Amino acid sequence: MNRMHWPAHFPALAGPLMLLCLALAGCGDNFDRFLAQKELAGPANPVFQKKYSTDSLPRSELDQLLDMALYKGPPEQYGDIVLRDRSDRHRMDPVVFSHRIHRSRFTCRVCHIELEFSMKKGGTGITRQEYLDGLYCGACHNGDIAFSVKYSCNLCHVKVDKQGRYPAKKDAMLGGRNLPPLGYGDGINWVEAIKSGAVTPRNSLTAEQAPQSMPLPSHLQLPLRWTTRSPRTLVVFSHESHILWLDCANCHPDLFSIAQMGTVEFDKQKNLYGMFCGSCHMTVAFPMNGCSRCHPDQKNRM
Ligand code: HEC
Ligand code: HEC
Ligand code: HEC
Ligand code: HEC
Ligand code: HEC
Ligand code: HEC
Repeated sequence: MNRMHWPAHFPALAGPLMLLCLALAGCGDNFDRFLAQKELAGPANPVFQKKYSTDSLPRSELDQLLDMALYKGPPEQYGDIVLRDRSDRHRMDPVVFSHRIHRSRFTCRVCHIELEFSMKKGGTGITRQEYLDGLYCGACHNGDIAFSVKYSCNLCHVKVDKQGRYPAKKDAMLGGRNLPPLGYGDGINWVEAIKSGAVTPRNSLTAEQAPQSMPLPSHLQLPLRWTTRSPRTLVVFSHESHILWLDCANCHPDLFSIAQMGTVEFDKQKNLYGMFCGSCHMTVAFPMNGCSRCHPDQKNRM
């Protein structure tokens, strides 16, 4: 029987084969090697092997979807929300709201928890009566925190042409200084900006001190890491970076289960249709172009 000899021959064969594979950078599984390196860096932080409830997309379809998901517009308009439903009915110009300008002064939780703005475009259904009563935009646009809703109609209500074009918001309105640049999305690296103190957004309108959101359980202080199925890639999610801007309740339990890792129906395709991570990372937070921030093994795409 040959089998007895095989183990003795194997290392002799495996060495040169391995070198050949490294040189070709294609045969065998580069991803496993990549993971092994990452494992050395953080053995305390396991990589979760996910299960799914659906098949993964064929690669060409995935690439097409990815390309469609990239943001290619001007940086100062990324994150803008054009509201026109109620305005149209009253023959007013549509309202353009800039996340980029506002988030330099306030965290997401101020608007999306305290002031109860919906995280779905049009979801709040803001009326003039409501904001005149101090709700929504009116909580700040009262002539105290910002210009009043009683005047300056045309700062909010602006002309938007048939192609959806309007005069871009001016950088002069951005709070903060020396904002760290980014080559895609709205052009600003907001994680670095808040960590370095380039911006100091308020985390509450009512409390002097920023309220404590629920403390982060110690096992969530390191990033969550998991692998996908086909093509395989490493996904990294840091709770720590997200709670600089967001409250637990912005994600749990509506977007993600808090009970455990590995929601089975959460896959790439649904992200690219604007669910899960895509609900923020295709609209307001840095867009899909920044592949390498979520996948340390992928290159960014423009
Ligand atoms: C000053 C208030 C304010 C701040 C701060 C703010 N938002 Fe918003 N956000 C809004 C408003 C207003 C809308 C539109 C709501 C509507 O149409 O009903 C919105 C909509 C959204 C949407 C839905 C987008 C879409 O196209 O459907 C997302 C996602 C979102 N915000 C995420 C964020 C994130 C993430 C942050 C922090 C980085 C943030 N917002 C900070 C006011 C704010
Ligand atoms: C949490 C407070 C807050 C809320 C809520 C808020 N704003 Fe503002 N907004 C500001 C501040 C502060 C400025 C900076 C200008 C100033 O100091 O007057 C500003 C500036 C603006 C500007 C001028 C800059 C630009 O983007 O052209 C517009 C327009 C505007 N807001 C629209 C809105 C609309 C529409 C809403 C509601 C959908 C809204 N804001 C909700 C605080 C707020
Ligand atoms: C801080 C921003 C802001 C300012 C300033 C502002 N509006 Fe609005 N306005 C809004 C938003 C947001 C809506 C809802 C937009 C939508 O859904 O189409 C709205 C809607 C309206 C509507 C539709 C009716 C309704 O009940 O929703 C009218 C009419 C209107 N505004 C008139 C005015 C007039 C007149 C002024 C100036 C005296 C003004 N607005 C100033 C933000 C503003
Ligand atoms: C930006 C969205 C987001 C925010 C904000 C957020 N989480 Fe999570 N959380 C996630 C995601 C994504 C997962 C993984 C879910 C999955 O794989 O199904 C998760 C998982 C969890 C889990 C289960 C994982 C485990 O190993 O136990 C807990 C507990 C949790 N989060 C607590 C919190 C707490 C507490 C906060 C606020 C301090 C918070 N999260 C804020 C997105 C978020
Ligand atoms: C905001 C974070 C984020 C960005 C940016 C992002 N992805 Fe992903 N990607 C994910 C998540 C989350 C998953 C895995 C969802 C799941 O299956 O758990 C994923 C899955 C994948 C997969 C595996 C697909 C499958 O069907 O299993 C590939 C390949 C991938 N991404 C490539 C890319 C490329 C290329 C880019 C840049 C164009 C990119 N991603 C940008 C978060 C991101
Ligand atoms: C509720 C909104 C929201 C959701 C959902 C969300 N993110 Fe984010 N994410 C943000 C915001 C806000 C930032 C700050 C940077 C920015 O806005 O560009 C951020 C930053 C990041 C960063 C940069 C971290 C750093 O330290 O530089 C990564 C990576 C990331 N998100 C991945 C993900 C992945 C993967 C998911 C899904 C599992 C996800 N995010 C879901 C809002 C969100």
